[in-house]
Amino acid sequence: MKIYRAKDYNDMSRKAANIISAQVIMKPGCVLGLATGSTPIGAYRQLVEWYKKGDLDFSEVTTVNLDEYRGLTRENDQSYYYFMNENLFDHINIDKSRTFLPDGMEADSDKACRDYNEIIQSVGGVDLQLLGLGHNGHIGFNEPGIAFETETHCVNLTERTIKANMRFFPAEKDVPRQAYTMGIKTIMSAKKILVVVSGEDKADIVKEAFFGPVTPAVPASILQLHNDVIVVADEAALAKCSDTADDK
Ligand code: F6R
Repeated sequence: MKIYRAKDYNDMSRKAANIISAQVIMKPGCVLGLATGSTPIGAYRQLVEWYKKGDLDFSEVTTVNLDEYRGLTRENDQSYYYFMNENLFDHINIDKSRTFLPDGMEADSDKACRDYNEIIQSVGGVDLQLLGLGHNGHIGFNEPGIAFETETHCVNLTERTIKANMRFFPAEKDVPRQAYTMGIKTIMSAKKILVVVSGEDKADIVKEAFFGPVTPAVPASILQLHNDVIVVADEAALAKCSDTADDK
């Protein structure tokens, strides 16, 4: 695991965008695994800027996202499908028929998960998987306690997550109760993994996840066992790790 120290959020975003760009340049037909959440937004913005300058070409790229809420239409502005279009796909020359997310409107959850595993397989697996890090160490919607061998599966959102999400919806009843997510096994199958982390509120979990024991209680800790992981974190997120600028 390599840990790169960035000055601040903007620096983290630029460094992460550089790594994603390098992947796209070296393998124009690559498969990018993408994430939503607030942390990657700056990197997506940077990629769009470089694309507009003519430095990047996404025409042959395929993407598979980590997760999607169950029961939200693609038009719902809280769906991850909507998020990806708004923050990235609408602004670059990607072929949208090659941008994949779990089908949140598939009511048969076994089918939704099976289909998504098949899509990931059929595109040849993920070359570079981008991840954010949850405050409790989750990656995707893989919450503490999840078995490391899982592939795409359906998760029940915790009461805490439902309450936290309430502010984005008209009423509590509209907040999704479940989501489809790549499992830890799916994530660990990516050839390369890039984790972005920013802010002092993540300092404790960065230390636990990347310097603590590998345990299902901290799902991201499994990344220590992957042979090609880059963490790009800003100084605030690295505040509790003493010696971090290099290889771990
Ligand atoms: C996003 C995802 C989540 C987030 C994590 C961090 O697709 O699956 O695991 O990466 O919750 O979120 P932010 O970046 O908002 O702190």
